[in-house]
Amino acid sequence: MQTTFKKLFGAEAQYHIFSPYRVCPMGAHVDHQHGLVTGFAFDKGVDLLFNVTEDGSVSLRSLTFEGDIDFEITRPTQVKDGNWGDYARGAKYALKKRFQLKRGIKGLIKGSLPIGGLSSSAAVLIAYVMAFAKANDIQLTPFEVVKIASEAEREYIGLNNGLLDQACIALSEKDALLFLDTDSEQYRIIRRNPRMPDFDLTIIFSGLTRSLVNSDYNLRVAECKTAAWNMMAYTGMPLKNLDKTFLRDIPKETYDLTKEKMPPRFARRAEHFYSEYKRVRKGVTAWETGNLDLFGKLCFESCESSIKNYECGSEELIAIYNIMRQTDGIYGGRFSGAGFKGACIALTDPAKREEIRQHITEEYLRMFPEYTETFEIHFCKTDNGARFV
Ligand code: GLA
Repeated sequence: MQTTFKKLFGAEAQYHIFSPYRVCPMGAHVDHQHGLVTGFAFDKGVDLLFNVTEDGSVSLRSLTFEGDIDFEITRPTQVKDGNWGDYARGAKYALKKRFQLKRGIKGLIKGSLPIGGLSSSAAVLIAYVMAFAKANDIQLTPFEVVKIASEAEREYIGLNNGLLDQACIALSEKDALLFLDTDSEQYRIIRRNPRMPDFDLTIIFSGLTRSLVNSDYNLRVAECKTAAWNMMAYTGMPLKNLDKTFLRDIPKETYDLTKEKMPPRFARRAEHFYSEYKRVRKGVTAWETGNLDLFGKLCFESCESSIKNYECGSEELIAIYNIMRQTDGIYGGRFSGAGFKGACIALTDPAKREEIRQHITEEYLRMFPEYTETFEIHFCKTDNGARFV
């Protein structure tokens, strides 16, 4: 990458940020309702090489996307352009709400895996936030990076998501599980129990890619909030604005009392929330006690609830999930991300890599031969969060 950087900008890059992708074994689709989540960062992600510019100009090139992105950091942030530059503009937007920015960057960015469910958008946003902060001598704690990148994604990019992706990417540590309460924003980094067998984080790309802003993501968020509103109305609780309404604020007992009255669609969204809360608690204990079999089983159950209650996942992702359940050497797995894009993740036995690859590939491509060129499996390991290298 340095050679390309030098060719493009005439000098070697002084700084290099690695911002990893993330997976969430359980605690899916609940961060926007202030639920409990778990996650890992892993050893594939986004690399950003950059130098600081004194005049405030930002010039970005990508090895993944076409086109040049050029803007001034000192000027007001322009509206979204619909291209990859929006993520850098989003980072500028969110930082500018808090700090004065004077210096820009010349940067070259590259992602190491295809796009689809691994939170590449949060990974690039975090890389830009860290780079612009560095260029302007702004010291940020990892949690401030999480908040700023998340604000950029919600307010600028327009996805009503929670803190899961940014937290996994910025806070994770190798060989440890991140456990975050997205309501209190308290988190723990829980080291792997020495009794737990080694595992791979395996990424299985269906071959299908979609953008979250155009998916049903925001609709599901609204459905969860409507479920909360229903429960509050049935039990005479005062209503708040929908944007301040979260399932986390409604006790499970209220759900048990009202679930039969609610339109089933809303009840299913709430069912996912409350059952996921329980699974995360159990999953954290399984992790702490080194019980990888139980941890994996809960991860499968989480995916089952995503399919039945949250009703997401394309045909392709559901097919991979079903194949995974029948594959020897897989402890557990689920769709990654919102389940509207292309990848499933699994915790797998490193001794069985080749059998796993062969079995899933054969079964999946028999059902979906059209993805022969784009279907991919990668065996990865947990990693530390975003950092300067
Ligand atoms: C996407 C969102 C996250 C989270 C997950 C589902 O990755 O960006 O905030 O809601 O989906 O768990």
